[in-house]
Amino acid sequence: MRPWVFLNISASLDGKISNETRKQLRISCKEDLERVDRLRASADAIMVGIGTVLADNPKLNVKNKDLREKRLCEGKSENPLKIIVDSKCRIPENAEVFDGEVIVAVSKLAKKEDIDRISKKARVVVFGEDKVDLKALLEFLYERGVRRLMVEGGGTLVSSLLKEGLIDEIFIYYGPMIIGGSNSPTICDGRSFSPPIKVDILSIQRLGEGILLHLKVLSNDHRSE
Ligand SMILES: NC(=O)c1ccc[n+]([C@@H]2O[C@H](COP(=O)([O-])OP(=O)(O)OC[C@H]3O[C@@H](n4cnc5c(N)ncnc54)[C@H](OP(=O)(O)O)[C@@H]3O)[C@@H](O)[C@H]2O)c1
Repeated sequence: MRPWVFLNISASLDGKISNETRKQLRISCKEDLERVDRLRASADAIMVGIGTVLADNPKLNVKNKDLREKRLCEGKSENPLKIIVDSKCRIPENAEVFDGEVIVAVSKLAKKEDIDRISKKARVVVFGEDKVDLKALLEFLYERGVRRLMVEGGGTLVSSLLKEGLIDEIFIYYGPMIIGGSNSPTICDGRSFSPPIKVDILSIQRLGEGILLHLKVLSNDHRSE
């Protein structure tokens, strides 16, 4: 059993999620940031890859005070649990994400000294030999009570999750811009899928300056819930 997994990501019209510098780029409008905040507040946990932590240094907190208070009234923590996928335990101790409950998922490649260093800040769990075994991690999260898992990128983690049939639902906000650059990260990087992964388009909505696409991933045979 694993949680329901939904991806939220913002992209330019040419599918880029940043530019060649890989630094955080403002793609979303105000209306979209508010939507993302509501989505975050609805999640039990939020997951990102180490590439995103190193590039953007995100907090991954719910920004709106009312949404945080609503979570507390429902008996939840103020912010969802944060999960960092980080095979070699490269995360810096002073990363902004270390605020509230955090799990750093590493693989057997992680050095003991790095695990010890990060264990002071977060719970470190080991899944997989080389890369983090995502399926095992999701099963662990389910056992820990996570039912709704929000993935916020980046493109490398998204690619692995999609390949393993571990994403159910996708929200893509397309900002009215073209970023370009063959080395700019995209919504889904890594190797191409053959055959392509099919999705159902559930809705297309004009939101602020851009477009919000809501998709359902088809043929997720691996999902056992
Ligand atoms: N526009 C948006 O909404 C948005 C959102 C998020 C990020 N971004 C952008 O995306 C870029 C970062 O994306 P990214 O692709 O470089 O990094 P990423 O997807 O955040 O992290 C990928 C890293 O996770 C680690 N990992 C461990 N196990 C893995 C597994 N099984 N599958 C995949 N990855 C695994 C790998 O590093 P190790 O081998 O070292 O563990 C891998 O390189 C930045 O430019 C950021 O600004 C944009």
